[in-house]
Amino acid sequence: MKSTVVTGIAELTTNDPGLGTLHDAAVVLEGDRLAWIGDAAVAPVADEAVDVAGRAVLPGWVDSHTHLVFAGDRTAEFEARMAGEAYSAGGIAVTVEATRKATDTELAGTLARHVSEAIRQGTTYLETKTGYGLSVADEARSARLAARLADEVTFLGAHLVPPGADAESYVDLVCGEMLDAVADHVGWADVFCERGAFDEEQSERVLRAAAERGLGLRVHGNQLGPGPGVRLAVRHGAASVDHCTHLTDDDVEALAGSDTVATLLPACDLSTRQPLAPARRLLDAGATIALASNANPGSSYTTSMAFCVATAVLQMGLSVAEAVRAATEGGARALRRHTGDGAVGVLRVGARADLHVLDAPSATHLAYRPGVPLTWAVWRRGVRVWP
Ligand code: NIG
Repeated sequence: MKSTVVTGIAELTTNDPGLGTLHDAAVVLEGDRLAWIGDAAVAPVADEAVDVAGRAVLPGWVDSHTHLVFAGDRTAEFEARMAGEAYSAGGIAVTVEATRKATDTELAGTLARHVSEAIRQGTTYLETKTGYGLSVADEARSARLAARLADEVTFLGAHLVPPGADAESYVDLVCGEMLDAVADHVGWADVFCERGAFDEEQSERVLRAAAERGLGLRVHGNQLGPGPGVRLAVRHGAASVDHCTHLTDDDVEALAGSDTVATLLPACDLSTRQPLAPARRLLDAGATIALASNANPGSSYTTSMAFCVATAVLQMGLSVAEAVRAATEGGARALRRHTGDGAVGVLRVGARADLHVLDAPSATHLAYRPGVPLTWAVWRRGVRVWP
């Protein structure tokens, strides 16, 4: 198995409680795992040596919330929003129409372009969802295409009741035939529990049906206003509840007392002109948070995790260390990939060899130099994938 020693690391963020942040460090990658971490002065010899010459190294970003199986463009909707229109879930239908019309090759090409764009910015583990098909055949196709390129795939047939459909019959379809059709390609199921999408009772039915089939659960909740999403997610033991923009004290308390990760999507909050999610309040209460891009053509058309981290520091009251942790280990927790052999979002012996090298001496530069493309090199599963 080929090994690589990476030396010259000025600052190494590990997210491992025993290791903390190391200075003048080195790591050894062997196959797709990390085989050694420590002081550069005593680093072992390997087949190949790379000197990063005083740069900072982090675990690759873990983007735990994207919607990248789509076709079409919603620039006009974005322009209208910037001119004062409110964001509404109804825009999803525009992307559904375009996605249904696209060929497999077009959908796969768009997905591949966005995944590659994310990797070039330091994302090494990525979740994506279905949810722009909303028919049995189109959801199955989305799930199949997503499984080729994403690390984790989530079924989001319950994204919107398709125009013209009856809500209750559509929920029956999602819970039955549609779940059966996607089951081979997905590990997770999600539901958009929000006014204009699915109510609490309908969301509950989707979560129960998914859990019966052994899928992990997540919920889109409390995005556009207060609502039952967070408490529903906690009640069902969902791995994450995503958005969490509008939270009551009871929601915060419920999250703090649970294993459900609050996944915050600052790029979406900004693009939809919502307030930013209460990251500080959640952390202070003891909840676990993740930061994710929510890359999708409607509410958040960016794959930049660095932008999310900078926003979390500059506008949401997080320290750089808290924001980086949320965008790496937090995402891994939301996907339940933070422990054990091959863990992601963390750098320790046995973890996946996913490294993000910044063209800067410390992670602080992510917020100190917002908007500057700082990704210098990326290793994914032990292979240098950028540049
Ligand atoms: O996470 N909230 C629901 N779904 C996406 C939006 C999708 C869209 O507008 O196309 C989200 O923001």
